[in-house]
Amino acid sequence: MGLLRVGFQHRRLFRSQVVRLPHHYFHQNPKPFPQTSCYPVPSTRATRRIPPVRASSSAVPKMVKAIRVHELGGPEVLKWEDVELGEPKEGEIRVKNKAIGLNFIDVYFRKGVYKAAALPFTPGMEAVGVVTAVGPGLTGRQVGDLVAYAGSPMGSYTEEQILPANIVVTVPPSIDPIIAASVILKGMTAQFLLRRCFKVEPGHTILVHAAAGGVGSLLSQWANALGATVIGTVSTKEKAAQAKDDGCHHVIIYKEEDFVARVNEITSGNGVDVVYDSVGKDTFQGSLACLKTRGYMVSFGQSSGTPDPVPLSALAVKSLFLTRPSLMQYNTNRDELLETAGELFANVTSGVLKVRVNHTYPLSQAAQAHADLENRKTTGSVVLIP
Ligand SMILES: NC(=O)c1ccc[n+]([C@@H]2O[C@H](COP(=O)([O-])OP(=O)(O)OC[C@H]3O[C@@H](n4cnc5c(N)ncnc54)[C@H](OP(=O)(O)O)[C@@H]3O)[C@@H](O)[C@H]2O)c1
Repeated sequence: MGLLRVGFQHRRLFRSQVVRLPHHYFHQNPKPFPQTSCYPVPSTRATRRIPPVRASSSAVPKMVKAIRVHELGGPEVLKWEDVELGEPKEGEIRVKNKAIGLNFIDVYFRKGVYKAAALPFTPGMEAVGVVTAVGPGLTGRQVGDLVAYAGSPMGSYTEEQILPANIVVTVPPSIDPIIAASVILKGMTAQFLLRRCFKVEPGHTILVHAAAGGVGSLLSQWANALGATVIGTVSTKEKAAQAKDDGCHHVIIYKEEDFVARVNEITSGNGVDVVYDSVGKDTFQGSLACLKTRGYMVSFGQSSGTPDPVPLSALAVKSLFLTRPSLMQYNTNRDELLETAGELFANVTSGVLKVRVNHTYPLSQAAQAHADLENRKTTGSVVLIP
């Protein structure tokens, strides 16, 4: 396909300094979300200003480069094209992206597992960038602010984009834009899974599948910090080493070992309190078998395919709980977003979470990044640089 894999780097950007976010970061101007978006805004005074890029007042349409999908399919359908960018309207901002996080959900949309509203579309659900223009009458946001967003509207694989002003959060000054882009969606996912969907506490034993992946790495570290015994599954020895380093007390190479038998052995036949299963089809049934009586099955992804339907009788055997949660339903209003992002950023700045930006690619080579993610070649977070 003529694609060069220039950007495949193994970099660990670990942070250790402790920075406290100001109290007002969490409690500004609560407002309900607009109908068009899934995430609210944090407008805040803890704002970093980057030298402004002057918005053009010319009538000539502004063109930017973006990835576009005209037909569903493999990574090759991701095309690098010129697209027209308008001016922000009321309630909107224009953001020049500095870094864009790659997520498995981008693969689902590209393949049609999840349906985009229309074709062609620009994929991408998270980014960090600098505000380059604000819509008429907008307050609380300024040109030069460094902001992050995760979730709807889809379309972050672009040099610059228009966003509803109230879906972005301010990136704390202590956090590098690339770190923020690699963690805003995946880290908020870890937050809601561990702190709200099933509340992990000291003494719990948990099973995390794909523990060396983007979300898995953060889940393992955060659960360890919460005092849980963490069992992680991975496909290779290299990934096992990373998962161990990320706080997994036990690592199972599920391509070589029967993970159900190993969990049974590790827990002396008791089973685990909760399974965080993002792999789906290949692990779902085994995950149910790993749970203790009244355990929680949290099925939050399908990297290997959609799990088969589950008869209620499968849960009755051990009075199990089953949930299929999504970040969007755990960040339904501004307060939830501010709290989720705030807790995540605090854990990054304090060093509880070591953010592994193990791979960066130029945005123009998103196809290669998708191929590597799908082929299980990546660990930690993958970031696209415009
Ligand atoms: N519900 C939500 O709100 C939400 C939000 C964010 C992410 N997610 C889900 O979380 C999961 C992880 O997302 P991520 O972006 O961080 O990706 P990731 O975990 O970095 O990559 C997926 C990993 O899944 C494992 N895997 C197992 N079988 C696979 C297969 N047949 N094909 C591909 N991968 C396979 C691989 O790890 P091994 O090689 O170690 O097996 C692979 O590295 C995804 O399923 C995503 O949909 C859900």
